[in-house]
Amino acid sequence: MMGWMSSMCKTVVYVWFLVSLSFVYNGGEGIPTTLEGPFKPVTVPLNKTLSTISADLPDFPSNAVDFQPQQISVSLSANYDSIWISWITGEFQIGDNIRPLDPESVQSIVQFRVFRSRSTYQAEGYSLIYNQLYPFDGIQNYTSGIIHHVCLTDLEPDTLYEYECGDPSKSLMSKSHYFRTMPVSSPSNYPSRIAVVGDLGLTHNTTTTVSHLLSNHPDLVVLVGGLSNADLYLTNGTVSNYSSRPLLQNTIHETYQPRWDYWGRFMQPLVSNVPTMVVGGDHEIEQQAEDLTFAAYSSRFAFPSEESGSMSSLYYSFNAGGIHFVVLGAYTPFEKSSEQYNWLERDLGDVDREVTPWLVAAWQTPWYSTYLAHYREAECMRVEMEDLLYKYGVDIVFNGQVNAYERSNRVYNYSLDPYGPVYITIGTGGNREGLEITHADEPGNCPDPTTRPENYIGGFCVFNFTSGPASGKFCWDQQPDYSAFRESSFGHGILEVKNESHALWTWHRNQEFYENAGDIIYIVREPGVSVFHFTEGN
Ligand SMILES: *[C@@H]1O[C@H](CO)[C@@H](O)[C@H](O)[C@H]1NC(C)=O
Ligand SMILES: *[C@@H]1O[C@H](CO)[C@@H](O)[C@H](O)[C@H]1NC(C)=O
Ligand SMILES: *[C@@H]1O[C@H](CO)[C@@H](O)[C@H](O)[C@H]1NC(C)=O
Ligand SMILES: *[C@@H]1O[C@H](CO)[C@@H](O)[C@H](O)[C@H]1NC(C)=O
Ligand SMILES: *[C@@H]1O[C@H](CO)[C@@H](O)[C@H](O)[C@H]1NC(C)=O
Ligand SMILES: *[C@@H]1O[C@H](CO)[C@@H](O)[C@H](O)[C@H]1NC(C)=O
Ligand SMILES: *[C@@H]1O[C@H](CO)[C@@H](O)[C@H](O)[C@H]1NC(C)=O
Ligand SMILES: *[C@@H]1O[C@H](CO)[C@@H](O)[C@H](O)[C@H]1NC(C)=O
Repeated sequence: MMGWMSSMCKTVVYVWFLVSLSFVYNGGEGIPTTLEGPFKPVTVPLNKTLSTISADLPDFPSNAVDFQPQQISVSLSANYDSIWISWITGEFQIGDNIRPLDPESVQSIVQFRVFRSRSTYQAEGYSLIYNQLYPFDGIQNYTSGIIHHVCLTDLEPDTLYEYECGDPSKSLMSKSHYFRTMPVSSPSNYPSRIAVVGDLGLTHNTTTTVSHLLSNHPDLVVLVGGLSNADLYLTNGTVSNYSSRPLLQNTIHETYQPRWDYWGRFMQPLVSNVPTMVVGGDHEIEQQAEDLTFAAYSSRFAFPSEESGSMSSLYYSFNAGGIHFVVLGAYTPFEKSSEQYNWLERDLGDVDREVTPWLVAAWQTPWYSTYLAHYREAECMRVEMEDLLYKYGVDIVFNGQVNAYERSNRVYNYSLDPYGPVYITIGTGGNREGLEITHADEPGNCPDPTTRPENYIGGFCVFNFTSGPASGKFCWDQQPDYSAFRESSFGHGILEVKNESHALWTWHRNQEFYENAGDIIYIVREPGVSVFHFTEGN
């Protein structure tokens, strides 16, 4: 607990040092760029001194008294001028005879001001509760505390704000927290550092990842799925695991929702001060009675769904300076006839690359990963959506799900292609499922194609390659040419978009000092080329 408290102080102090902070490698000398690619595939051998499995952290009791705000978080709306603040009041209940709290019984108010300014503004939002219900004997039900979401509007760009949230009529306001708004969208304005990581869970390794991530002072955090991993528990709080979870009456798995509350408390020092965007992955599905899914995920976070015209918490978009982010749902329909696909086509069609030159997409399950776990599992999604991302010139794709690190060469339809995105798999947050260390291209590791489809991720779309070195086979017999760099370690990534053409990407391994980079590259886009390519592809 003490280590964590000091992180919290640093978060507040970081405001002052933000300007002076610069990384040791910022000279730019000798950093490779994607223009020098495609690179010969590199596999960094596993560091055998590391334990690949980590234990979960114990319960995080609430230190909120009465209906004081807890689990406070900040997330972006579609543009710099608005921000969401979310928090929870009251305690969850689990067991028999749970009685849902009345969301109307506590107000949802945020008081905020430009840092050190005297004019305080007040915004009011809405509140809700959600239940996780299992109509099975001996299986416990859950009802959440009251979840509040408030949207702050008319904000100044690139400005530090101070805020308190809660119910002023009951003197239940939080301490002050701080956030900085994104800069105005333009080719010359970018947030300094965007942290990206997936599959955090809540283990001792998660603690390292999150404290290193905080030390690298991001302005924005993107979590590519695998958040609390509450679905690795039974409803009685006993640890289970994904592959051996019991199926209740052949239909659904249990989850232990209090893990979400522990995760929210653990994450607060980061996410109450740095806007954080979440992606829904398989651990967030959490099926319950009446076929409800994603209840915790969709209720606990605020999303720019309405603002970006998607009306879904599973896919949405937002701008962070000159970057347009598109978040997709790998576990919600993505076929060309689906709402998601149609929304994506509209959203990408509306992007003005003169305003947001960079286009970055994120979803959970990777299309281009060479690890055995989840190998080619998202093939149906790739077949449906890859052309659209290619046509609109997506620059970078971030994925999680696979608990290891991998960066691709520019690739399209399994072929090296200078116009394809760079795919980065970064499910390296440290969750309890442990590191993936097995590659599908090593002898004897190629999975049986018929094991690849996943219930929730479309039907059966995998095929054996028809050209290239793996022609006629399901796997390569060496690291594929599209895989530029892979390593099994925990860590987080930092994206620093410098200008219209250059973004510095660094991956920071947990076993090193947080500033050191285990992988470093300038991702370079060639604006003229991309625009020409888009016009041609249209
Ligand atoms: C392997 O990890 C240990 C920490 O467990 C670290 O001290 C060491 O430097 C790492 N070795 C390499 C080659 O990265
Ligand atoms: C995870 O954390 C534990 C405990 O700190 C450590 O022993 C282990 O090596 C870490 N594993 C990795 C892959 O970093
Ligand atoms: C949990 O909720 C379901 C659906 O309302 C109900 O059928 C079941 O009896 C409840 N279980 C317990 C233990 O209260
Ligand atoms: C929880 O349920 C599982 C499966 O029924 C059982 O093995 C375990 O002992 C239970 N744990 C507790 C704390 O009751
Ligand atoms: C998960 O369950 C499987 C099957 O029971 C077992 O082989 C594996 O060791 C378990 N993994 C963990 C991390 O407990
Ligand atoms: C992608 O590659 C497959 C297999 O080589 C081929 O059948 C398909 O036509 C290609 N798709 C596109 C859009 O080029
Ligand atoms: C696909 O490739 C696998 C080996 O990677 C092989 O076992 C299988 O027979 C192939 N299937 C077809 C239809 O060729
Ligand atoms: C963009 O940033 C890179 C890296 O900082 C720099 O080398 C390059 O000169 C910049 N380009 C322009 C047009 O400013």
